[in-house]
Amino acid sequence: MCGIVAYTGPKKAYPILIKGLQRLEYRGYDSAGVALLDGDIKTYKRKGKVSELVSYAEGQDTDGSTGIGHTRWATHGKPDNINAHPHRSGDGDLVLVHNGIIENYSVLKEALKKQGHTFKSETDTEVLVHLIEEIKKQGNLPLEEVVRVALTKVTGAYAIVVLDKTEPNKIVAARKQSPLVIGIGEGEYFVASDATPIVEHTKHVVYLGDGEIATIEKGEELQIKTISDNEIQLPFVQKLDMEIEQLEKGGYDYFMLKEIHEQPKTIADCMRGRLSAEGGWVKLGGIQEQLNRFVSANRIIIVACGTSWHSGLIAEYLFEELARIPVEVEYASEFRYRNPVIDHNDVVLAISQSGETADTLAALELAKDRGALTYGIVNSVGSSIARLTDAGSYIHAGPEIGVASTKAFTGQVTLLTLMALSLAEKKGKIEKEYFNRLITELENIPAKVEEVMKLNDQIQYIASEMKDAPNALYLGRGYNFPVALEGALKLKEISYLHAEGYPAAEMKHGPIALIDENMPVIITCTNKSAYEKIISNIQEVKARKGVVIAIITEDDEEIRKIADYVIAIPDTEEPLTPLLSVIPLQLLSYHIAVMRGCNVDQPRNLAKSVTVE
Ligand code: G6P
Repeated sequence: MCGIVAYTGPKKAYPILIKGLQRLEYRGYDSAGVALLDGDIKTYKRKGKVSELVSYAEGQDTDGSTGIGHTRWATHGKPDNINAHPHRSGDGDLVLVHNGIIENYSVLKEALKKQGHTFKSETDTEVLVHLIEEIKKQGNLPLEEVVRVALTKVTGAYAIVVLDKTEPNKIVAARKQSPLVIGIGEGEYFVASDATPIVEHTKHVVYLGDGEIATIEKGEELQIKTISDNEIQLPFVQKLDMEIEQLEKGGYDYFMLKEIHEQPKTIADCMRGRLSAEGGWVKLGGIQEQLNRFVSANRIIIVACGTSWHSGLIAEYLFEELARIPVEVEYASEFRYRNPVIDHNDVVLAISQSGETADTLAALELAKDRGALTYGIVNSVGSSIARLTDAGSYIHAGPEIGVASTKAFTGQVTLLTLMALSLAEKKGKIEKEYFNRLITELENIPAKVEEVMKLNDQIQYIASEMKDAPNALYLGRGYNFPVALEGALKLKEISYLHAEGYPAAEMKHGPIALIDENMPVIITCTNKSAYEKIISNIQEVKARKGVVIAIITEDDEEIRKIADYVIAIPDTEEPLTPLLSVIPLQLLSYHIAVMRGCNVDQPRNLAKSVTVE
């Protein structure tokens, strides 16, 4: 949610900032801007994508070897050229970019107005730069100290980067609940919301901690302290495990399509070293350390948002069926505000691709305060959730750039399956023969996902039949109910068609009223249990002239006869079925969105990483 990038060093900053903003565009894309420090400060800001900014700045003076940039997802103030970041102080000396929300901005704004400040934009961010200016006026302090004092007066969430033309070559960066990474190169520094703009320049990074402020100066050592004024002696420099190829489309039209096709590999990567069918074992490092607390837990509470919440629902089926541990799955945003009953006998599991979702982070903080063991299932290495939790496991899917999550979803489900198996074994709740069967089949899943990809042309054809329908209904039972929710979410997100996901049996309690010849109903029928019931659901739809698109297993002759369209995928063990049945739904949404002329990777109003509540 908003992307930040900054540079200081011997090179020209502008091209580095622009390339960085393009990498961060998935975080927000309603306006973009840069500020360059070259004697004076030059700012260029434009409504729209980074490409609009590039066209606007073309031919203008973009010199300067220190600069900051921003790509916005609007919270306060509409997306336009004025509300776009960077924002400048009244005297023009200071310039700032911000990701997050300053919650007490209206109180601060009123006070600053009384002190003579005037504001150009409707943003909370502009208040912050005026506040810094006001504090600077009050004493002869270095920029980092002025910024630090200003931040002690601010409530809310922020990642900020500030420049001051009276202290050129210096960048001050600070964060609270919004991420920032500092890249350390040869005589140069980079700052960004995540490591993607940095990786092509240096692999040495420092993840700025929550409540920390960094002073970055050309040719000087990096200095970090806390906003509450404690020195941090040795910033922890980490080596990035990311390659530049992972950030490029690699010949695909969209990142989403590339990421869908990566799934055989990402699922295999997630399992690597964590299971052996031959050896008959599953081992998850993170759990091993906390096994006793997991095994003795009263229940597991899963907190997540969006697609990650759907993975959590699948985990509920997995943990309860295989390990017999009671599970509750919560929207993080609801959990944190309803005073949940929770104590040290609970395990709170946070699932998050980005590791930065504000509501999930806040839910975890609450769980920690109440003594629960917190565990993170995260993709983004070094992210806030990964660092906040007591223990956790990475899904190792690599950077996911398309806003609609695909490979992170199957990575999460793979990891949660390993976790359920591990706990089931430890608790003695699973028969060895079934355990072995499941892990053998898990090893076969990447090849089976590859088989599903071969159905692409057929799915594309079904997409062409479905693309003009105003609504769609997705149904599934058991493990395929969360898959139905995920299929509907994918369609909504990227094609702007209205879609609902429902448990198949619930259809008759409402959605059935919507069914007519214009309503495509996508039913995922790969379950063996309740198979007859699913056939009845199909008949109920057919009786009302609904168009049935059925995801079936290859040997299913019965549904083939009654559905209007079938997509036949390889058979698998029932708890593993979401890993295969979700793939056609991802492809279906992708093709419909492309046929409808939508920007698949950057759907309107959405952002990949939601760092505001
Ligand atoms: C946003 C993204 C979704 C994602 C959700 C949760 O809404 O667009 O794709 O599922 O946030 O994000 P997380 O990073 O916590 O999994």
